[in-house]
Amino acid sequence: MAKRAQILGTGLYVPPDVVTNFDLEKLVDTSDEWIVERTGIRERRFVDGETAASDIALEASRVALDTAGIGPDELDLIILGTVTPDYVFPATACVLQDLLGARNAAAFDLSAGCSGLLYGINIATQFVETGKFEKILCVGVETLSKILDMNDRNTCVLFGDGAGVAVVGESTDDAGILSTYMKADGSLVDMLYMPGGGSRNPSTYESIDARLHYIKMEGREVFKVAVRMMVEASNKVLDEAGYSGEDVDVFIPHQANMRIMEAVAKRVGVPREKVYVNLDKYGNTSAASIGLALDEAVRDGTIEPGHLVLLVAFGAGFTWAGTLIRWS
Ligand code: UT7
Repeated sequence: MAKRAQILGTGLYVPPDVVTNFDLEKLVDTSDEWIVERTGIRERRFVDGETAASDIALEASRVALDTAGIGPDELDLIILGTVTPDYVFPATACVLQDLLGARNAAAFDLSAGCSGLLYGINIATQFVETGKFEKILCVGVETLSKILDMNDRNTCVLFGDGAGVAVVGESTDDAGILSTYMKADGSLVDMLYMPGGGSRNPSTYESIDARLHYIKMEGREVFKVAVRMMVEASNKVLDEAGYSGEDVDVFIPHQANMRIMEAVAKRVGVPREKVYVNLDKYGNTSAASIGLALDEAVRDGTIEPGHLVLLVAFGAGFTWAGTLIRWS
């Protein structure tokens, strides 16, 4: 019988500094009322000036490895999704490999925006199913506070920092990762991107003056595409495994906006009470968001063995992805 992959352990880390909507009211023309009504976000965490993506990825990875009961030297591969790496190169996954002491692991970063962790889990699933690798650390980590324009109320109130990790390995029972889906559409890159710092607009005094090293987003347009594509990804993984929205026990959509999550759940036929939400505490943490929600849902008992868990993401690129899991 073909091998099946499973999530063997999860972990999260968020930095201690809490930034509330009221704190942001002091910086830009916004209000707690606007942010809560339009997004569902109440607070988020920001790292301090000294802390990089690999530092918080390390904390979350240690928890995930402990939970999975495996040592760092057992890892075959580290896949790290982020848009805020330590450096343009080399990969933050390599920095993390050294910090962890995962000396037997290959390591690479992937840039899939908020779909980063699900892209990682889905790639890891293929490696486990083919038998090529046995234990894979999938990391979603962001230090978005470092690329937020604190003069732009359209974006600075939305995002936060954190790291979410899942260890993917072989399933020992019938449960596990049942179906996966990944897609992209690169025709709308400039709806959500950071223009500066790459080979298109290298870092110069001019690029800094033009504020090119910050997140730019056309929120309203992104909203519409996000709903459509997360519905598509949900339906694809449910169909492939022979399930429908009513069968889902726990639904974890990318935590970007409460209204997006509710619209997707309604269209997929998942009851509202099955939607897991921690966006209010952490904001949109991009690649980390599903990892933060998955780890909390496992630890607070929302996810129990036997549950059908639907994960679905949408992000810059655009990219979108789904993963359907029978939890064991
Ligand atoms: O994670 C990757 C994917 N990203 C997403 O999924 C984000 C998708 N987009 C969204 O979540 C929403 O579009 C936003 C939360 C970004 C914006 O909500 P919206 O309901 O689409 O608002 P809007 O952009 O249409 O703006 C409505 C009004 C505008 O004022 P006018 O033009 O109507 O006078 C904005 O200038 O709200 C204004 N506004 C704000 N007001 C107070 C925008 N940002 C703020 C703010 N505080 N922070």
